[in-house]
Amino acid sequence: MEAVGVLMACPMSPYLEQELDRRYKLFRFWNVPSKEEFLKEKSASIRAVVGNATAGADAELIDALPRLEIVACFSVGLDKVDLGKCKEKGIRVSNTPDVLTDDVADLAIGLMLTTLRRICESDQYVRSGLWKRGDFKLTTKFSGKTVGIIGMGRIGMAIAKRAEAFSCPVSYYSRSQKPDTKYKYFPSVVELASNCHILVVACPLTAETRHIINREVIDALGPKGVLINIGRGPHVDEPELVSALVEGRLGGAGLDVFENEPEVPEKLFGLDNVVLTPHVGSGTVETRKAMADIVIGNLEAHFLNKPLLTPVLE
Ligand code: DGY
Repeated sequence: MEAVGVLMACPMSPYLEQELDRRYKLFRFWNVPSKEEFLKEKSASIRAVVGNATAGADAELIDALPRLEIVACFSVGLDKVDLGKCKEKGIRVSNTPDVLTDDVADLAIGLMLTTLRRICESDQYVRSGLWKRGDFKLTTKFSGKTVGIIGMGRIGMAIAKRAEAFSCPVSYYSRSQKPDTKYKYFPSVVELASNCHILVVACPLTAETRHIINREVIDALGPKGVLINIGRGPHVDEPELVSALVEGRLGGAGLDVFENEPEVPEKLFGLDNVVLTPHVGSGTVETRKAMADIVIGNLEAHFLNKPLLTPVLE
């Protein structure tokens, strides 16, 4: 019997790679001299694509794979998949919701704490033997600060719950008011930013939410405000953010995601009011294993003609 061909769009998890290699004919779509040549040669045997937040299945790739049946994402975010094209062609799509919610929410709170309390800078101060100088600057209290959340889905709710434990009043913006939350709703991001101290981006990246953080929002947040982004880099107009931080028009930022990952604007490296992490919201051993098992489960279900475990498009 012909082995099922699965294309992994970029390196994502050694465990997942090993398991896919064991079960299928695995094609790795990186370090290939020419993607065009590669596809010409292999496309006829590829029936599944495994993607993530870095690489997925755009219209060009989908069109190049005549036998593609499923795109199984090793991420909750689907911004690297052309869902319209998948729908049109009857290609199934799955993602990895729920298992990463706690980790991403934990990191959001971690970024709030490290940014306001300058934990990274304190660590550097001690390591570089400066403690005896005794001149470490006072930091900003986190408990009790107003937290504004953009996107009140699973991750937004988990951040809200954690913020409440720090006595932070929570408010939010989302496309529509959620009848089942007790948090204060603002009908626009600018109004939310004007009424909070810490603004967190936790919504999916779509055409509507691209650059949802722009100059107007940054100015509304102001010189005492802090921006936390655990969503996607393109949610933020990055040059505007960098200028605001450099000019002191924004108080600080905790950023896990960037517009052109893994490129990070160099000007950020010189700022002490900024904490930078390499898109690791879901990056714990436990969660990445759980995400990999869901991807494997979805592929297994698909090739047995069963319902997907976590379907986005069936
Ligand atoms: C997701 O699942 O979308 C995360 O950003 C990946 O870490």
